[in-house]
Amino acid sequence: MTLDFTSDHAAPAHPAVLAAVAEANRGRTPSYGADPWTREAERRLRQVFGPTASYVPVFNGTGANVLALSAMTRRWESVLCAEDAHVHTDETAAPERAGLKLVLAPSPAGRIRPGGLAPHLAPGNRHRAQVSVLSLTQSTELGTCYDVADLRALCAEAHDLGLAVHLDGARLANAAATLGVSWAELTTAVGVDVVSLGSSKNGGLLGDGLVVLDPGTVPGIEFLQKAVGQLPAKTRFVSAQLLALLEDDLWHRNAEHANRQASRLAAGLGALPDVGLPVPTEANAVFVDLAAPVADRLTQDVALTTWRASGERRLLRLMTAWDTDPADVDRVVALVAAALGAGRPKRADQVCSSPTAPAVPRP
Ligand SMILES: Cc1ncc(COP(=O)(O)O)c(C=O)c1O
Repeated sequence: MTLDFTSDHAAPAHPAVLAAVAEANRGRTPSYGADPWTREAERRLRQVFGPTASYVPVFNGTGANVLALSAMTRRWESVLCAEDAHVHTDETAAPERAGLKLVLAPSPAGRIRPGGLAPHLAPGNRHRAQVSVLSLTQSTELGTCYDVADLRALCAEAHDLGLAVHLDGARLANAAATLGVSWAELTTAVGVDVVSLGSSKNGGLLGDGLVVLDPGTVPGIEFLQKAVGQLPAKTRFVSAQLLALLEDDLWHRNAEHANRQASRLAAGLGALPDVGLPVPTEANAVFVDLAAPVADRLTQDVALTTWRASGERRLLRLMTAWDTDPADVDRVVALVAAALGAGRPKRADQVCSSPTAPAVPRP
């Protein structure tokens, strides 16, 4: 099976990232974050996110989330997140094993709506875990994006209620590319306190990071990082990857390419009969609703994720990445068309009127 649309982390590392790792592979250097690559990455992240930013290189996205949320809560406190948040659905109860209680908020199309946080809190009720953090995901688990106004409203509402704000930015780059804004406009400027910043989904090799914008929200994180097993000794290699992604906005080019291929795929599929696109394609994930026999046929030729199987329909997720070949996108559309018996579909570039990303953002 050559067509792989399972996820963006199934893609290889970008050659520039590999070259940066090779370049960092020289001589002795202090470890555990004291190396020049990590200091330089932090300096660059301050330029990107603002002068309060500090950088915590970690091994992966789950570790970033669990470390951040653990540092942001006390033993009797809890985290409010979307009902389909990755921390809740796909981290093998790592947050729970770390002692975190998650409180779930409804999230139509993956987004918590502003204005509805208070009913999920029970401040002062000693029989309830006290919600102290709002955790949002950008782009969301359903491949949608919070716009800047909603993020600002959610952060303001959370802060008014006494909560700190964590952002799972495993795909912050994709959201920034879609919205045509900088990372800072999606985080620092709207009141986010801590960001899990993904690299591995956008051309990285291995390793992600935390960007702490308000250090007061993560007391003791330098100790906790080691205690939860998320302090790499050879941080130079994690940081070198991030530096490569920041160089000449490689992060943006990678994300923009992935988003554009998702738009192309959604447009091609949307032009076919009896094909549903129940979630807007706003980043690099496409959710497609197909009759079960069509979906079953497609899964023989394309690696993808079956998100939901109910009755006669299947909801499939296809993800694009920095390396997705447009020809492969068109092949998937043709395969669906063939499975539908619909004859030749229109070429995707004939129906895809505009790519996702509008402007050229600078983080
Ligand atoms: C939104 C989101 N957050 C966090 C993670 C966890 O990342 P990792 O698999 O590196 O632990 C993922 C992984 O796909 C994700 O999609």
